[in-house]
Order: sequence, then structure tokens, then C-alpha cells
Amino acid sequence: MYKRVPGTKDILPDEVIRWQRIEEAARGIFSLYNYHEIRTPIIEEASLFNRTLGDTAEIVQKQMFLIHNREDLYALRPEGTASIARSYLENSLDKTNAFVKLYYMGPMFRLERPQKGRLRQFHHIGCEAIGSQDAALDIEVISLAIHLLESFSINDYQLKINSLGCPSDKQRLSSDLKQGLQKEKGNLCPDCQTRIENNVLRILDCKNDSCRRIVERLELKNSHLCRECLSHFQEVIDGLGSLDIPLKIEQQLVRGLDYYNRTVFEFTHPQLGSQDAIGAGGRYNNLVSELGGPDTAGIGFAFGVERLLLASKATGDQKEKKLVYLITMGDAAKKTGIKLLNRMRSSGIPCETDYLNKSLKAAMRSANDAGARFVLILGEDELKKNKVSLKDMSNSEQREIGIEELTKELEC
Ligand code: HAM
Repeated sequence: MYKRVPGTKDILPDEVIRWQRIEEAARGIFSLYNYHEIRTPIIEEASLFNRTLGDTAEIVQKQMFLIHNREDLYALRPEGTASIARSYLENSLDKTNAFVKLYYMGPMFRLERPQKGRLRQFHHIGCEAIGSQDAALDIEVISLAIHLLESFSINDYQLKINSLGCPSDKQRLSSDLKQGLQKEKGNLCPDCQTRIENNVLRILDCKNDSCRRIVERLELKNSHLCRECLSHFQEVIDGLGSLDIPLKIEQQLVRGLDYYNRTVFEFTHPQLGSQDAIGAGGRYNNLVSELGGPDTAGIGFAFGVERLLLASKATGDQKEKKLVYLITMGDAAKKTGIKLLNRMRSSGIPCETDYLNKSLKAAMRSANDAGARFVLILGEDELKKNKVSLKDMSNSEQREIGIEELTKELEC
């Protein structure tokens, strides 16, 4: 028997209800903030991600699902931001509107070692606001993320925030770190020893204990930030404070992707163990120009849906369903039943019937299992009278009703 590919999941009907709840809530909240949905392909040219996330990013180096097709090299998208920046330029969205707000939901792919909360196919709910570097937008985007978390009944999250500054600030931070870490090189893990040369910022989010201890001793103090970037960061922090949003400034937070600058942030959840990031984001003021477009600032975030579900207390309780279950007895009743089902569904009444030709008793059990609110019984007697027996499953009351009046009765 075939099994699913490791690191992927089947989302079965019972669980899908929780996904739909989250997606529905997200759509409602995105629309409150005037975001519009965008859907991009799940395959892209692989070089899009090398160019934007950076050749030294872990995702690019180790985690891309690559598809070789003659001379072309494609990748299953590992994240959404690069694709959206590509789409923004390719479809000239900048020409129709100087400022756009987009949201997205869908699968992402990373070739990681699967474990709890870490999959090879996982799902993002995210957004990107492209066209402004106003600190007020950073504040709005972060408060939108919190609004989403609250709507998913997730309250025990922690918000960590930092500023990487502009490209020259990032350069300054890298050189300071290189200098500070050189004398500790022998105590860093083998990966971080090479990172000192090719991507020193990544050492700050290395999970190795020894590397962590060294990083903690560094006492970073945002000294790499220029005046404009410091004041932008202060404005963001003050704005979030004015909204009573609790946060922790975490100087080690750098995020592993090249496109980030200025504000970066992450939401963690204490109950998720080692994979505790439920979502993350930040500014990318040079991403669009890096792809050949005009200078255009942007900011966004993405939540990992599987981790949201692990953290969410909300259950998938079914909404009160008004399912109508039709049981027919005999061939003539079955034929009339087909028409009856069609009429009810056209009037927007959800209904189901017994396709296994069960006995009345067994069919009643199926109706109960399906969560039916009403059962309709159509046998030869009822058919002769052009009526149907209607049983209300909430109180077991049963009465006969004319077939012609049925849809009207059930609609109310
Ligand atoms: P990211 O931090 O790589 O950011 O991913 C965002 C979230 O996706 C993570 O916080 C985590 O919840 C979830 N996630 C990541 N990898 C996995 C995995 N293997 N299994 C399950 N969940 C996972 C980005 O992707 C950026 N594009 C976010 C962004 C949007 N920045 C600006 N705009």
C-alpha cells in the first residue's frame, strides 16, 4: 500500500473543519485591513529564491525541492514573499497602484528533517504590503498579525522584534560580529565556523548550545543602526506600545533570509517545543529593486498553519448543521427522491440520502451518524398521498407534510 511522502500530511474531513475556521477568520480580518488575496504558482524558477533569500540561506542551501526540466531548474516554493515580489513586478501591480496590500494562503515546501511542527509540505497564511516604508505600516502589519492570532484563540504568544537597519547597517553589524566572534571561532559548531566567513548573521540564530552561549555574551545593543533606522525602529516600538502590544526587543533576532532589512519580528508559542515559531516577518525595502524593479519598500509576515493549529485552543466543533437526510423505500419512491433532493439542494438546503439501500432502521442510524437535523421518509404510502414523513431529530417529533410544501418548510 502506498504511504504519504514523509513530512507531508493528509488533512482529513474532521480536521479540515479547523482549517476552514482559521482560513475563514483570516479572510475576514485581512479584508478589515483592506488586503486582497493573491494566488501565485507553487513552482517558480529556482534562481528567484537564490537571488532573494540569498545563496547562503539555509532554505536555499539545503531545503529546496528542485525540479530539473531539460535546461530549466524549477523549485517548489519554500515561501511566498519572493513569488509575490516577482508577481508584483511581472504583472506591473506597481503601475496600477503605488501601494498594494496582498494576502495569501497555501502550501510551501522545504526539504527539512520532519518532526513535530516541522513538515516538508506545510501551509502559510501571510500578507505583504508593498509600496511604503512608513513606520505606521510596520505597526499596522504587526497589529494585524496579533488580530489574526486572537481570532484563532491563540493568546499565549510572545512577540520578539528587532531592527536590522539599512544595507550599510547590516554590513556594519556583520563586520562587528565577525570581529567579536573571531576569537571564539574554535568554540563554535562546524557550520558556524564557516558562517563567520560567508554569513555571520546566521550564527545569531544557530540552535547549538555552545553557539547560543557565545552569542548571549556578545551583548548586542543596536549600535549598528544609523540615525534614520534607529528613529524608524523607535517609532515602531512606540507605536506598538501605544496599542498596548507587549513585545520583547531581541537583538539576536536577525531572520535567516537576505531580503530583510529594518524591522524583523517573530511570534513564538511556549507549548510548541523546539519548533516554537508560529509566524514571522519583516521589512524588505530592497527586494523589489533586487528583482529589477523600482525602489519599493515592503513588509509582511507569514504564519505556519500547522503550528497555529497546534497552538490554538479553538476546537473544530461543528456548526449547528441543518442537514436533511432522505430515506426512500421502494423503486418509485427512489425516483421521486432524486427529484426531491435536487429541488432541496437548488433551494440551498444541504441534504444527503442512503445510497446503500439499507433497511429503515439502519438508514436511520446512518442519518444520525451524519448529524442530520431532519430525516425525510418517503415510502409507498407517503408517495400515494404525495406526502413525506418529516422527523425532527432534535425532539424526535414526526409528522407528514405535502411534498410541494417541503422546501418552504425546511427553508425556515
Ligand atoms: P519563515 O519564518 O521562514 O518566514 O516562515 C514563517 C512560518 O512558517 C514560521 O514561523 C513557521 O511557523 C512556519 N514554518 C516554516 N517552516 C516550516 C516547516 N518546515 N514546517 C512547518 N511550519 C513551518 C517566511 O517564510 C517569510 N516569507 C515570512 C515573511 C512574509 N516575511 C515577510 N513577509
